Amino acid sequence: MSALYADTTRLERLIRELAPAYGPAGQEEQIRSLIRKHVEPLADEVNVDRLGNLMALVRGSGGPGARRVLIAAHMDEIGLMVTHIDEKGFLRFAPVGGHGPATLLGQRVVFADGTVGTIGAERLDDIKDLKLDRLFIDIGAADREEAARRTPVGSTAAFIQEVVGTGSRLIGKAMDDRVGCAVLVEVMHQLRAHPSIHDVYCVFSVQEEVGARGARTAGYAISPDLALAVDVTATGDTPNGERLNMTLGGGTAIKVKDNSLIAHPWVRQLLVDTAAAAGIPYQMEVLPYGGTDAGAIHLTKSGVPAGAVSIPTRYLHTPSEMIDLQDVVATADLLIAVLQQSLATGPA
Ligand code: CO
Ligand code: ZN
Repeated sequence: MSALYADTTRLERLIRELAPAYGPAGQEEQIRSLIRKHVEPLADEVNVDRLGNLMALVRGSGGPGARRVLIAAHMDEIGLMVTHIDEKGFLRFAPVGGHGPATLLGQRVVFADGTVGTIGAERLDDIKDLKLDRLFIDIGAADREEAARRTPVGSTAAFIQEVVGTGSRLIGKAMDDRVGCAVLVEVMHQLRAHPSIHDVYCVFSVQEEVGARGARTAGYAISPDLALAVDVTATGDTPNGERLNMTLGGGTAIKVKDNSLIAHPWVRQLLVDTAAAAGIPYQMEVLPYGGTDAGAIHLTKSGVPAGAVSIPTRYLHTPSEMIDLQDVVATADLLIAVLQQSLATGPA
């Protein structure tokens, strides 16, 4: 199994840079400017729309079979929004995206301005009582006034975690979906080196974790002939885990369905045929829950043929999401291989 196109070293460097950055849904300014720095030299056009989506166009050479292709990865991550501050300065919070209470306890978090805190719990008689509303963020404030000054109600915190790992398996927060963002940047590098006939719109979307909100307006604005989301998916390969087909290191996961999308049969087949022909390791993804940007995009205007390529990830929505770099490479390779083809046979 060797990389066809993607630069593994650059992908790893991108993941290590992008994953630790701050960017909970609705607060994407910092991560957006970081990604913008990478895509600006690679794109023919860069736009930020009114919701905050970063859209980078790499223009194709055109010709028969040339289409408008949208590839989306979300730059937002899950977070915690301050809802209430008590007289001693402890912060109660609402989840921004999906969180499990057990994984929150003891975690370190950071706010947009760099204020840090840790997550504590009330005294519990039973571990079953461990619910989000029994947890609080402690920023070490002396009282309500200090806490309200530093982290007023409405402030949003994200996990603090560097990416760690030596070999091919990397652990970090917000692999969902900074690993997808890294893939998009790598695809843009490869499009520069090996131009495609298609106009490729790389969308780094906002607010996916609260319901693929950014992808909806981006999909409408671009109105592509083909849309692909690049996101993470769950695996079934941990002890007594879920019964899922996807495994870490099993290759890129070609989505059949999740709760937001049934992949267009033409798109799914295009991905399968391309992976098979190019010798790219792949596995089929059926996820009985969850969704991606493709779910929002495929319902825009009169409908968009859409699918997704997913990076299998263990411990999703925890501060220690684990990915395998070889799956990331396979995902980038599959996208590149698709973009090297005429899409004249599609339903578009
Ligand atoms: Co997510
Ligand atoms: Zn995601």
